[in-house]
Amino acid sequence: MKKLKIDLAERSYEILIGRNLLGRTGEFLRDLVKGNSAVVVTHPGIRRLYGDGVTVSLQKAGFRTAYAEVAEGEASKSLEVAGRLFDRLVEFGCDRQSVLVALGGGVVGDLTGFVAATFMRGVPFVQVPTTLLAQVDSSVGGKTAVNHPRGKNLIGAFYQPRAVIVDVDTLKTLPFDEFRAGMAEVVKYGVIADRALFDFIDDNASAILALDPACLERIVETSCAIKAGVVEKDERESRYRMVLNFGHTIGHAVEALTGYSGMKHGEAVAVGMVYAAELSKAAGYCSEDVCRRLRALIRKLGLPDKLPDLGPAAIVEAMYLDKKATDRNIRFVLVKDIGEVEITDGVPEPVLRKVLEN
Ligand code: NAD
Ligand code: GLY
Repeated sequence: MKKLKIDLAERSYEILIGRNLLGRTGEFLRDLVKGNSAVVVTHPGIRRLYGDGVTVSLQKAGFRTAYAEVAEGEASKSLEVAGRLFDRLVEFGCDRQSVLVALGGGVVGDLTGFVAATFMRGVPFVQVPTTLLAQVDSSVGGKTAVNHPRGKNLIGAFYQPRAVIVDVDTLKTLPFDEFRAGMAEVVKYGVIADRALFDFIDDNASAILALDPACLERIVETSCAIKAGVVEKDERESRYRMVLNFGHTIGHAVEALTGYSGMKHGEAVAVGMVYAAELSKAAGYCSEDVCRRLRALIRKLGLPDKLPDLGPAAIVEAMYLDKKATDRNIRFVLVKDIGEVEITDGVPEPVLRKVLEN
Protein backbone atom coordinates (compact mmCIF):
# COMPACT_ATOMS: atom_id res chain seq x y z
CA MET A 1 0.00 0.00 0.00
CA LYS A 2 1.21 3.50 -0.86
CA LYS A 3 0.49 6.43 1.43
CA LEU A 4 0.43 10.01 0.22
CA LYS A 5 -0.09 12.93 2.53
CA ILE A 6 -2.02 16.01 1.55
CA ASP A 7 -0.72 18.78 3.74
CA LEU A 8 -3.43 21.30 4.65
CA ALA A 9 -2.53 22.17 8.25
CA GLU A 10 -5.32 20.91 10.57
CA ARG A 11 -7.23 19.59 7.52
CA SER A 12 -4.35 17.32 6.39
CA TYR A 13 -5.07 13.71 5.52
CA GLU A 14 -3.69 10.61 3.90
CA ILE A 15 -4.53 9.03 0.56
CA LEU A 16 -4.05 5.27 0.81
CA ILE A 17 -3.62 3.48 -2.52
CA GLY A 18 -3.36 -0.25 -3.10
CA ARG A 19 -5.16 -3.54 -3.58
CA ASN A 20 -7.53 -5.33 -1.18
CA LEU A 21 -7.98 -2.23 0.93
CA LEU A 22 -11.78 -2.14 1.26
CA GLY A 23 -11.72 -4.85 3.93
CA ARG A 24 -9.39 -2.66 5.98
CA THR A 25 -11.66 0.42 5.99
CA GLY A 26 -12.60 -0.07 9.67
CA GLU A 27 -8.98 -0.44 10.71
CA PHE A 28 -8.03 2.83 8.96
CA LEU A 29 -11.02 4.74 10.34
CA ARG A 30 -10.55 3.60 13.92
CA ASP A 31 -7.45 5.76 14.27
CA LEU A 32 -9.06 8.75 12.61
CA VAL A 33 -12.42 9.30 14.27
CA LYS A 34 -13.68 9.21 17.84
CA GLY A 35 -17.29 8.21 17.17
CA ASN A 36 -18.81 4.76 17.07
CA SER A 37 -21.34 5.05 14.28
CA ALA A 38 -20.62 4.96 10.58
CA VAL A 39 -23.04 5.45 7.70
CA VAL A 40 -22.01 4.07 4.32
CA VAL A 41 -23.48 6.17 1.50
CA THR A 42 -23.59 4.25 -1.76
CA HIS A 43 -25.64 3.04 -4.73
CA PRO A 44 -27.54 -0.29 -4.50
CA GLY A 45 -25.28 -1.84 -7.19
CA ILE A 46 -22.09 -0.85 -5.39
CA ARG A 47 -23.53 -2.03 -2.10
CA ARG A 48 -24.05 -5.48 -3.66
CA LEU A 49 -20.47 -5.57 -4.93
CA TYR A 50 -18.55 -4.03 -2.06
CA GLY A 51 -20.89 -3.10 0.80
CA ASP A 52 -20.36 -6.16 2.97
CA GLY A 53 -16.58 -5.95 2.80
CA VAL A 54 -16.69 -2.37 4.04
CA THR A 55 -19.39 -2.73 6.73
CA VAL A 56 -17.98 -5.97 8.18
CA SER A 57 -14.59 -4.29 8.56
CA LEU A 58 -16.25 -1.27 10.21
CA GLN A 59 -18.16 -3.51 12.61
CA LYS A 60 -14.97 -5.42 13.47
CA ALA A 61 -13.40 -2.08 14.33
CA GLY A 62 -16.29 -1.38 16.75
CA PHE A 63 -18.55 0.80 14.60
CA ARG A 64 -22.32 0.54 14.55
CA THR A 65 -23.16 0.73 10.84
CA ALA A 66 -26.00 1.64 8.53
CA TYR A 67 -26.37 2.13 4.80
CA ALA A 68 -27.83 5.17 3.10
CA GLU A 69 -28.57 4.22 -0.48
CA VAL A 70 -29.01 6.70 -3.31
CA ALA A 71 -29.95 6.03 -6.94
CA GLU A 72 -27.23 5.97 -9.58
CA GLY A 73 -26.74 9.02 -11.74
CA GLU A 74 -26.12 12.75 -11.61
CA ALA A 75 -29.72 13.40 -10.48
CA SER A 76 -28.75 12.14 -7.01
CA LYS A 77 -26.56 15.23 -6.56
CA SER A 78 -29.58 17.26 -5.48
CA LEU A 79 -30.82 19.09 -2.40
CA GLU A 80 -33.76 16.69 -2.33
CA VAL A 81 -31.55 13.60 -2.07
CA ALA A 82 -29.30 15.40 0.44
CA GLY A 83 -32.45 16.08 2.48
CA ARG A 84 -33.28 12.38 2.51
CA LEU A 85 -29.76 11.61 3.68
CA PHE A 86 -30.14 14.08 6.58
CA ASP A 87 -33.34 12.21 7.55
CA ARG A 88 -31.47 8.91 7.48
CA LEU A 89 -28.67 10.27 9.67
CA VAL A 90 -31.14 11.60 12.24
CA GLU A 91 -33.09 8.33 12.17
CA PHE A 92 -29.89 6.36 12.82
CA GLY A 93 -29.07 8.57 15.80
CA CYS A 94 -25.94 10.13 14.33
CA ASP A 95 -24.09 12.75 16.31
CA ARG A 96 -21.17 15.07 15.61
CA GLN A 97 -18.67 12.22 15.94
CA SER A 98 -20.43 9.93 13.47
CA VAL A 99 -18.54 9.28 10.26
CA LEU A 100 -19.90 9.11 6.71
CA VAL A 101 -18.26 6.74 4.26
CA ALA A 102 -18.65 7.68 0.59
CA LEU A 103 -18.44 4.37 -1.28
CA GLY A 104 -18.77 4.99 -5.02
CA GLY A 105 -17.84 7.36 -7.81
CA GLY A 106 -17.89 11.14 -7.99
CA VAL A 107 -21.66 11.36 -7.57
CA VAL A 108 -21.61 9.58 -4.21
CA GLY A 109 -18.42 11.41 -3.17
CA ASP A 110 -19.66 14.93 -3.99
CA LEU A 111 -23.06 14.32 -2.39
CA THR A 112 -21.70 12.65 0.76
CA GLY A 113 -19.10 15.37 1.17
CA PHE A 114 -21.79 18.05 0.92
CA VAL A 115 -23.98 16.28 3.51
CA ALA A 116 -20.96 15.78 5.79
CA ALA A 117 -20.06 19.47 5.48
CA THR A 118 -23.51 20.61 6.57
CA PHE A 119 -24.97 17.96 8.91
CA MET A 120 -24.60 19.28 12.47
CA ARG A 121 -22.28 21.97 11.01
CA GLY A 122 -19.85 19.31 9.86
CA VAL A 123 -19.19 15.66 10.60
CA PRO A 124 -16.17 13.61 9.51
CA PHE A 125 -16.28 11.72 6.22
CA VAL A 126 -13.98 9.48 4.25
CA GLN A 127 -13.82 8.91 0.54
CA VAL A 128 -13.70 5.33 -0.75
CA PRO A 129 -13.72 6.01 -4.51
CA THR A 130 -14.61 3.17 -6.90
CA THR A 131 -14.40 4.84 -10.34
CA LEU A 132 -11.13 5.87 -11.96
CA LEU A 133 -12.37 9.46 -12.16
CA ALA A 134 -13.09 9.50 -8.43
CA GLN A 135 -9.81 7.78 -7.57
CA VAL A 136 -7.65 10.26 -9.46
CA ASP A 137 -9.70 13.41 -9.14
CA SER A 138 -12.98 13.94 -7.31
CA SER A 139 -12.15 12.15 -4.03
CA VAL A 140 -9.09 14.33 -3.44
CA GLY A 141 -9.17 18.03 -2.67
CA GLY A 142 -12.39 18.68 -0.81
CA LYS A 143 -14.72 20.04 -3.50
CA THR A 144 -18.19 18.87 -2.49
CA ALA A 145 -21.47 19.88 -4.07
CA VAL A 146 -24.98 19.20 -5.24
CA ASN A 147 -26.51 20.61 -8.41
CA HIS A 148 -29.09 23.35 -8.88
CA PRO A 149 -31.61 23.06 -11.74
CA ARG A 150 -29.79 26.02 -13.36
CA GLY A 151 -26.30 24.57 -13.13
CA LYS A 152 -23.94 21.87 -11.98
CA ASN A 153 -22.23 22.03 -8.56
CA LEU A 154 -23.79 25.41 -7.73
CA ILE A 155 -24.42 24.52 -4.08
CA GLY A 156 -21.45 23.23 -2.16
CA ALA A 157 -18.50 23.69 0.11
CA PHE A 158 -14.81 23.09 0.31
CA TYR A 159 -14.74 20.35 2.92
CA GLN A 160 -11.88 17.91 3.18
CA PRO A 161 -12.30 14.20 3.94
CA ARG A 162 -10.42 12.58 6.84
CA ALA A 163 -8.89 10.05 4.46
CA VAL A 164 -9.13 8.73 0.93
CA ILE A 165 -8.96 4.94 0.59
CA VAL A 166 -8.29 3.90 -3.00
CA ASP A 167 -8.63 0.20 -3.72
CA VAL A 168 -7.67 -0.20 -7.37
CA ASP A 169 -9.20 -3.69 -7.44
CA THR A 170 -12.64 -2.07 -7.55
CA LEU A 171 -11.86 -0.90 -11.10
CA LYS A 172 -12.27 -4.50 -12.31
CA THR A 173 -16.05 -4.21 -12.07
CA LEU A 174 -16.28 -0.68 -13.44
CA PRO A 175 -17.87 -0.55 -16.93
CA PHE A 176 -15.03 -0.15 -19.43
CA ASP A 177 -16.33 3.09 -20.93
CA GLU A 178 -16.37 4.63 -17.43
CA PHE A 179 -12.77 3.51 -16.93
CA ARG A 180 -11.67 4.93 -20.26
CA ALA A 181 -13.42 8.24 -19.58
CA GLY A 182 -11.46 8.48 -16.29
CA MET A 183 -8.23 8.11 -18.28
CA ALA A 184 -8.81 11.57 -19.75
CA GLU A 185 -8.15 13.06 -16.30
CA VAL A 186 -4.96 10.99 -15.97
CA VAL A 187 -3.75 12.31 -19.34
CA LYS A 188 -4.61 15.80 -18.07
CA TYR A 189 -2.19 15.39 -15.14
CA GLY A 190 0.55 14.40 -17.58
CA VAL A 191 -0.08 17.49 -19.68
CA ILE A 192 -0.30 19.96 -16.82
CA ALA A 193 2.55 18.70 -14.68
CA ASP A 194 4.36 15.50 -15.57
CA ARG A 195 5.83 14.58 -18.94
CA ALA A 196 7.03 11.22 -17.50
CA LEU A 197 3.42 10.31 -16.64
CA PHE A 198 2.33 11.27 -20.17
CA ASP A 199 5.09 9.07 -21.64
CA PHE A 200 4.17 6.23 -19.27
CA ILE A 201 0.55 6.27 -20.45
CA ASP A 202 1.73 6.40 -24.07
CA ASP A 203 4.14 3.47 -23.61
CA ASN A 204 1.73 1.33 -21.54
CA ALA A 205 -1.67 2.17 -23.01
CA SER A 206 -2.58 -1.47 -23.74
CA ALA A 207 -1.60 -2.68 -20.24
CA ILE A 208 -3.50 0.21 -18.65
CA LEU A 209 -6.63 -0.51 -20.70
CA ALA A 210 -6.26 -4.19 -19.71
CA LEU A 211 -6.30 -3.01 -16.06
CA ASP A 212 -2.82 -4.23 -15.20
CA PRO A 213 -2.73 -3.67 -11.40
CA ALA A 214 0.85 -2.34 -11.27
CA CYS A 215 0.04 0.18 -14.03
CA LEU A 216 -3.17 1.20 -12.26
CA GLU A 217 -1.38 1.81 -8.97
CA ARG A 218 1.27 3.85 -10.77
CA ILE A 219 -1.18 6.11 -12.62
CA VAL A 220 -3.48 6.57 -9.62
CA GLU A 221 -0.61 7.33 -7.26
CA THR A 222 1.03 9.82 -9.62
CA SER A 223 -2.27 11.53 -10.38
CA CYS A 224 -3.19 11.84 -6.69
CA ALA A 225 0.28 13.20 -5.89
CA ILE A 226 -0.09 15.88 -8.57
CA LYS A 227 -3.59 16.80 -7.43
CA ALA A 228 -2.50 16.90 -3.78
CA GLY A 229 0.38 19.22 -4.69
CA VAL A 230 -1.95 21.62 -6.51
CA VAL A 231 -4.55 21.63 -3.72
CA GLU A 232 -1.87 22.21 -1.07
CA LYS A 233 -0.83 25.38 -2.92
CA ASP A 234 -4.34 26.71 -3.55
CA GLU A 235 -7.03 24.82 -1.66
CA ARG A 236 -9.85 27.26 -2.46
CA GLU A 237 -8.99 27.89 -6.08
CA SER A 238 -8.02 31.51 -5.87
CA ARG A 239 -6.13 30.91 -9.13
CA TYR A 240 -3.47 28.18 -9.35
CA ARG A 241 -5.90 25.27 -8.76
CA MET A 242 -7.48 26.21 -12.08
CA VAL A 243 -4.65 24.33 -13.84
CA LEU A 244 -6.76 21.26 -13.01
CA ASN A 245 -9.32 22.63 -15.45
CA PHE A 246 -7.13 22.06 -18.51
CA GLY A 247 -9.51 20.88 -21.23
CA HIS A 248 -12.53 21.53 -19.02
CA THR A 249 -13.56 24.94 -20.37
CA ILE A 250 -14.49 23.55 -23.77
CA GLY A 251 -15.42 20.20 -22.19
CA HIS A 252 -17.97 21.78 -19.82
CA ALA A 253 -19.53 23.71 -22.74
CA VAL A 254 -19.94 20.47 -24.71
CA GLU A 255 -21.47 18.73 -21.68
CA ALA A 256 -23.89 21.60 -21.09
CA LEU A 257 -24.94 21.73 -24.77
CA THR A 258 -25.54 17.99 -24.88
CA GLY A 259 -27.64 18.08 -21.72
CA TYR A 260 -24.98 16.17 -19.70
CA SER A 261 -26.02 12.97 -21.43
CA GLY A 262 -24.44 13.08 -24.89
CA MET A 263 -20.90 12.49 -23.64
CA LYS A 264 -19.33 11.34 -20.41
CA HIS A 265 -17.43 14.02 -18.51
CA GLY A 266 -14.08 12.39 -19.30
CA GLU A 267 -14.91 12.13 -23.00
CA ALA A 268 -15.81 15.82 -23.09
CA VAL A 269 -12.53 16.61 -21.29
CA ALA A 270 -10.61 14.53 -23.85
CA VAL A 271 -12.05 16.57 -26.73
CA GLY A 272 -11.63 19.74 -24.70
CA MET A 273 -7.92 19.04 -24.19
CA VAL A 274 -7.33 18.44 -27.91
CA TYR A 275 -8.97 21.79 -28.74
CA ALA A 276 -7.26 23.59 -25.84
CA ALA A 277 -3.95 22.41 -27.30
CA GLU A 278 -4.97 23.70 -30.75
CA LEU A 279 -5.90 26.99 -29.14
CA SER A 280 -2.53 27.07 -27.39
CA LYS A 281 -0.80 26.61 -30.74
CA ALA A 282 -2.95 29.30 -32.38
CA ALA A 283 -2.11 31.72 -29.54
CA GLY A 284 1.60 30.98 -29.92
CA TYR A 285 2.07 28.96 -26.74
CA CYS A 286 3.02 25.54 -28.08
CA SER A 287 4.25 23.72 -31.16
CA GLU A 288 2.31 21.48 -33.53
CA ASP A 289 4.23 18.56 -32.02
CA VAL A 290 2.49 19.04 -28.64
CA CYS A 291 -0.92 19.01 -30.37
CA ARG A 292 0.01 15.95 -32.41
CA ARG A 293 1.24 13.96 -29.37
CA LEU A 294 -1.83 14.77 -27.31
CA ARG A 295 -4.24 13.94 -30.14
CA ALA A 296 -2.41 10.64 -30.80
CA LEU A 297 -2.60 9.60 -27.15
CA ILE A 298 -6.29 10.49 -26.88
CA ARG A 299 -6.94 8.34 -29.97
CA LYS A 300 -4.78 5.49 -28.68
CA LEU A 301 -6.95 5.36 -25.56
CA GLY A 302 -10.07 5.26 -27.74
CA LEU A 303 -11.28 8.62 -26.45
CA PRO A 304 -12.96 11.15 -28.77
CA ASP A 305 -10.83 13.90 -30.30
CA LYS A 306 -13.47 15.73 -32.35
CA LEU A 307 -16.17 18.10 -31.23
CA PRO A 308 -19.74 16.96 -31.82
CA ASP A 309 -21.58 19.08 -34.38
CA LEU A 310 -22.75 21.85 -32.07
CA GLY A 311 -21.44 24.91 -33.93
CA PRO A 312 -18.64 27.19 -32.69
CA ALA A 313 -21.02 30.04 -31.77
CA ALA A 314 -23.06 27.85 -29.43
CA ILE A 315 -19.89 26.49 -27.80
CA VAL A 316 -18.50 30.00 -27.24
CA GLU A 317 -21.82 31.17 -25.70
CA ALA A 318 -21.93 28.11 -23.43
CA MET A 319 -18.40 28.95 -22.27
CA TYR A 320 -19.47 32.50 -21.38
CA LEU A 321 -22.28 31.05 -19.29
CA ASP A 322 -19.87 28.81 -17.39
CA LYS A 323 -19.43 30.08 -13.86
CA LYS A 324 -15.71 30.56 -14.36
CA ALA A 325 -16.12 33.18 -17.12
CA THR A 326 -15.94 36.75 -15.90
CA ASP A 327 -17.46 39.44 -18.13
CA ARG A 328 -16.62 38.35 -21.69
CA ASN A 329 -13.26 36.96 -20.64
CA ILE A 330 -12.96 33.22 -20.75
CA ARG A 331 -10.09 31.99 -18.65
CA PHE A 332 -8.17 29.21 -20.37
CA VAL A 333 -5.43 26.88 -19.25
CA LEU A 334 -3.06 26.75 -22.21
CA VAL A 335 -0.28 24.26 -22.76
CA LYS A 336 3.28 25.34 -23.46
CA ASP A 337 4.80 21.88 -23.56
CA ILE A 338 3.80 18.43 -22.29
CA GLY A 339 4.10 18.91 -18.51
CA GLU A 340 3.84 22.70 -18.56
CA VAL A 341 0.75 24.92 -18.69
CA GLU A 342 -0.18 28.55 -18.09
CA ILE A 343 -3.44 30.15 -16.97
CA THR A 344 -4.52 33.00 -19.24
CA ASP A 345 -7.24 35.53 -18.53
CA GLY A 346 -8.60 35.74 -22.02
CA VAL A 347 -8.08 34.51 -25.53
CA PRO A 348 -9.27 36.76 -28.37
CA GLU A 349 -12.69 35.52 -29.46
CA PRO A 350 -11.81 35.36 -33.19
CA VAL A 351 -8.87 33.04 -32.40
CA LEU A 352 -11.14 30.85 -30.30
CA ARG A 353 -13.84 30.70 -32.98
CA LYS A 354 -11.31 29.85 -35.68
CA VAL A 355 -9.95 26.93 -33.66
CA LEU A 356 -13.45 25.64 -32.92
CA GLU A 357 -14.41 25.94 -36.62
CA ASN A 358 -11.47 23.82 -37.70
P1 NAD B 1 -20.50 8.19 -11.12
O1 NAD B 1 -20.23 8.46 -9.71
O2 NAD B 1 -21.84 8.50 -11.66
O3 NAD B 1 -20.17 6.66 -11.42
C1 NAD B 1 -20.35 6.15 -12.72
C2 NAD B 1 -21.12 4.84 -12.73
O4 NAD B 1 -20.24 3.80 -12.33
C3 NAD B 1 -22.30 4.79 -11.77
O5 NAD B 1 -23.37 4.18 -12.44
C4 NAD B 1 -21.80 3.91 -10.63
O6 NAD B 1 -22.81 3.20 -9.99
C5 NAD B 1 -20.86 2.98 -11.35
N1 NAD B 1 -19.77 2.45 -10.53
C6 NAD B 1 -18.95 3.14 -9.73
N2 NAD B 1 -17.98 2.37 -9.27
C7 NAD B 1 -18.18 1.14 -9.78
C8 NAD B 1 -17.47 -0.08 -9.69
N3 NAD B 1 -16.32 -0.18 -9.04
N4 NAD B 1 -17.99 -1.15 -10.31
C9 NAD B 1 -19.13 -1.05 -11.04
N5 NAD B 1 -19.81 0.08 -11.21
C10 NAD B 1 -19.34 1.17 -10.57
O7 NAD B 1 -19.47 8.95 -12.07
P2 NAD B 1 -17.99 9.53 -11.83
O8 NAD B 1 -17.45 9.73 -13.20
O9 NAD B 1 -17.21 8.75 -10.86
O10 NAD B 1 -18.26 10.95 -11.15
C11 NAD B 1 -18.90 12.00 -11.83
C12 NAD B 1 -19.22 13.09 -10.84
O11 NAD B 1 -17.99 13.54 -10.26
C13 NAD B 1 -19.88 14.32 -11.43
O12 NAD B 1 -21.00 14.66 -10.65
C14 NAD B 1 -18.82 15.40 -11.34
O13 NAD B 1 -19.38 16.67 -11.16
C15 NAD B 1 -18.06 14.96 -10.14
N6 NAD B 1 -16.68 15.46 -10.07
C16 NAD B 1 -16.28 16.06 -8.92
C17 NAD B 1 -14.98 16.51 -8.79
C18 NAD B 1 -14.51 17.11 -7.50
O14 NAD B 1 -13.40 17.62 -7.44
N7 NAD B 1 -15.29 17.02 -6.45
C19 NAD B 1 -14.06 16.37 -9.86
C20 NAD B 1 -14.51 15.75 -11.02
C21 NAD B 1 -15.82 15.30 -11.13
N1 GLY C 1 -11.56 18.74 -10.36
C1 GLY C 1 -10.98 20.04 -10.24
C2 GLY C 1 -10.61 20.42 -8.85
O1 GLY C 1 -10.69 19.63 -7.93
O2 GLY C 1 -10.23 21.52 -8.62
